[in-house]
Amino acid sequence: MKLVDEVAGIVAHRHARRNVVTARLDRMDFHEPVFVGNALSLDARLAFTGRTSMEVMVDVRAENLDTGEVVHTGTAWLTMIALNERGKPVAVEPIAPESEDEKRLHALAAARYEARRNERGA
Ligand SMILES: CC(C)(COP(=O)(O)OP(=O)(O)OC[C@H]1O[C@@H](n2cnc3c(N)ncnc32)[C@H](O)[C@@H]1OP(=O)(O)O)[C@@H](O)C(=O)NCCC(=O)NCCS
Repeated sequence: MKLVDEVAGIVAHRHARRNVVTARLDRMDFHEPVFVGNALSLDARLAFTGRTSMEVMVDVRAENLDTGEVVHTGTAWLTMIALNERGKPVAVEPIAPESEDEKRLHALAAARYEARRNERGA
């Protein structure tokens, strides 16, 4: 979980070029167990930008170093917020999805963004 939060922070920070904070861990699916001795790899993608928020999707894979077998063990969605020098939310550049995969990811994330706003009464 710590690694998931860290890579999401790196991806969001890299996009915003500012400090970011985690506002929400929307979901964490554990598809398969991770065993002691497995090597983990994490793949994080910026799925969506709101005004100051960024949704990052993180995939976790575990490699059995004895056999080389790699298993997709988890997926998480996090909302990160860009902060200005005073620690207040600040606008980020919107992303422009290009590939069909990016557009699909973006549309799903946009729907989650709206659902979160409705949930919070924003
Ligand atoms: C996240 C935080 C900066 C939001 O501050 P705020 O004063 O509520 O800011 P705003 O109402 O202006 O919202 C800023 C953005 O955060 C989003 N947001 C706020 N609360 C959210 C939540 N619970 N989940 C998802 N997004 C959230 C808003 O939608 C908005 O995004 P947008 O600009 O893209 O529409 C503030 O609540 C905070 O600092 N929380 C503590 C974070 C923390 O300590 N994280 C570490 C966890 S280990």
